[in-house]
Amino acid sequence: MKLCVALDLPHEKDNISLAKSLKECDVWLKVGLRSFIRDGKNIVSELKNINDKFKIFLDLKLYDIPNTMADAAESIAKLNVEMFNVHASSGKIAMKAVMERLKPLKNPPIVLSVTALTSFDDDEFKSVYNENIAKKTLQFAKDSFESRLDGVVCSVHESLMIKSYTKSDFITLTPGIRPFGDEQKDDQKRVANIQIAHENKCDFIVVGRPIYQAKNPFDAVQKILEGINGLH
Ligand code: C5P
Repeated sequence: MKLCVALDLPHEKDNISLAKSLKECDVWLKVGLRSFIRDGKNIVSELKNINDKFKIFLDLKLYDIPNTMADAAESIAKLNVEMFNVHASSGKIAMKAVMERLKPLKNPPIVLSVTALTSFDDDEFKSVYNENIAKKTLQFAKDSFESRLDGVVCSVHESLMIKSYTKSDFITLTPGIRPFGDEQKDDQKRVANIQIAHENKCDFIVVGRPIYQAKNPFDAVQKILEGINGLH
């Protein structure tokens, strides 16, 4: 299981300081919409300049018509990021178009789809998709698998089910992690800790606030990595 640290701080310099403090750590870094819009694509090279072993997950959650998504995917691939994502609700034709466009590339980034945002509770999800979370998430995961994506972003609690209906190596990346058990849930409705993520065979956990709001983010990351290394 890999740790992906969400760089969700309000200023570019804060994200850079956070990345610098994690220079020695074996982590992925997640660059989200706010940072990418505010800081521009150069943020990727700035992070790589801190440590070229940092792997970058560009969390832009693409959702558009197939041709526009494929164009965007091609441009993302040129940014030298290792992973990005699209919304599964953009549909199979759009997801297939993305994968087709990346196919000729030598080292294409990993492509994940977002199933259900972990901030949704049942009622809100139903008001958008007219379906319960578990059923629709599974459908989105199957659509993504059949479109040859590499995996999905999902809740910890859906990871095992998704793998059982797709493949064990179909990647699950799970936000909504509260590793220390005593933090606020914030806007995450469905949370879990490292042990639960491991039991559910999550490949990546994404952690934001419990790290960047900690008194010492480096210590928080070390504690999480120790927790991951101690799992069996
Ligand atoms: O601070 P916290 O640990 O809740 O951060 C979770 C991160 O994961 C945020 O950057 C959020 O945008 C992202 N995310 C999520 N739920 C999804 C997809 C991404 O919380 N389904």
